[in-house]
Amino acid sequence: MRRAVVIGTGMHLPERVMPNSEFEATLETSHEWIVERTGIHQRHIAAEGELTSDLGAKAGAQALKNAGIAPETIDLVILATTTPDDTMPSTATKIQHKLGITGGAAFDVNAACSGFVYAMSVANSFIVSGMAKRVLVIGAETYSRILDWSDRGTCILFGDGAAAVVLEAQEQKGTSDDRGILFAGIHSDGQYTGLLATTGGVSSTMNAGKLFMFGKDIFRHAVAKMPAAVEEALAATGKHADDVNWLVPHQANMRILAGVAQKLHIGEDRVIATVSQHANTSAASIPLALHLGSQDGRIKQGHLVACPALGAGLTWGCTLLRW
Ligand code: UT7
Repeated sequence: MRRAVVIGTGMHLPERVMPNSEFEATLETSHEWIVERTGIHQRHIAAEGELTSDLGAKAGAQALKNAGIAPETIDLVILATTTPDDTMPSTATKIQHKLGITGGAAFDVNAACSGFVYAMSVANSFIVSGMAKRVLVIGAETYSRILDWSDRGTCILFGDGAAAVVLEAQEQKGTSDDRGILFAGIHSDGQYTGLLATTGGVSSTMNAGKLFMFGKDIFRHAVAKMPAAVEEALAATGKHADDVNWLVPHQANMRILAGVAQKLHIGEDRVIATVSQHANTSAASIPLALHLGSQDGRIKQGHLVACPALGAGLTWGCTLLRW
């Protein structure tokens, strides 16, 4: 059976680091409050003129280099983003060009903070069906551009960044001990569109709008739906939470990560958390954590890795893969 196996990862963060203390000058907040309620210490912020495609292309180039493959062998580029450079063309095509890839196809996927999990699901379908052999999946975001910097309930939560994985079709036995993506579940329920959204968009206000959120409601959905998505993936593959070597959830809030792990009875020592350093980078957060966790030697070949996410839509899902 054809499986989509990760053969390389990469990341890129903007140079500027913004510590929590910077908010104290303009907002009624404190470093202590932000750390206690979210676990976030700092975030990276894109420079003026530094675009989602710039971050995504650099992350993609590093993933290709780490995979040891030439850009022209990629036959599909999927970019998960909610913050494209422009309304059109797709930011994925700009990244494709910046990477020197001239063949194949490229498109964007918008599922907000679940974007990476959605993009992995699409990539997996292309690979398993034989429509693609090598897919570059990138999560890249510049949320700093859509934040309301006067809203202390949201602007402290997000950061900019990008990360990528290269997936390659490899022939495997067809069991849940295979390497590669074993399950790629995605869900949505549009009745919750108003819980986390922007104040506008192309067709409604002719500008991008600013992000707003009902944080407590999103929190409740996240700690219910993310564990359920992991359970679904485990049930479909005949695995148990004890078999999971690493839980690599979407990085929104340390309390959400802890809540998801607790529901699954997965100890903190098996959770990869980067939210303290990057804040919520939306579609980039899972690949960032995967890249760092594999580069520092925690995620090893053969490990079972569960990546649940929840985002605006609401959208949610879980990619279960063997490294
Ligand atoms: O990927 C999905 C994206 N979104 C998320 O994952 C976010 C999910 N939600 C959350 O992470 C949390 O709900 C927040 C961090 C946004 C808020 O934490 P909370 O523990 O739910 O706090 P709260 O909303 O109940 O607010 C408690 C108090 C409020 O004051 P009052 O009404 O009790 O007087 C807020 O106004 O804390 C206040 N508050 C703040 N105080 C200082 C809200 N933000 C801040 C702040 N600094 N930055």
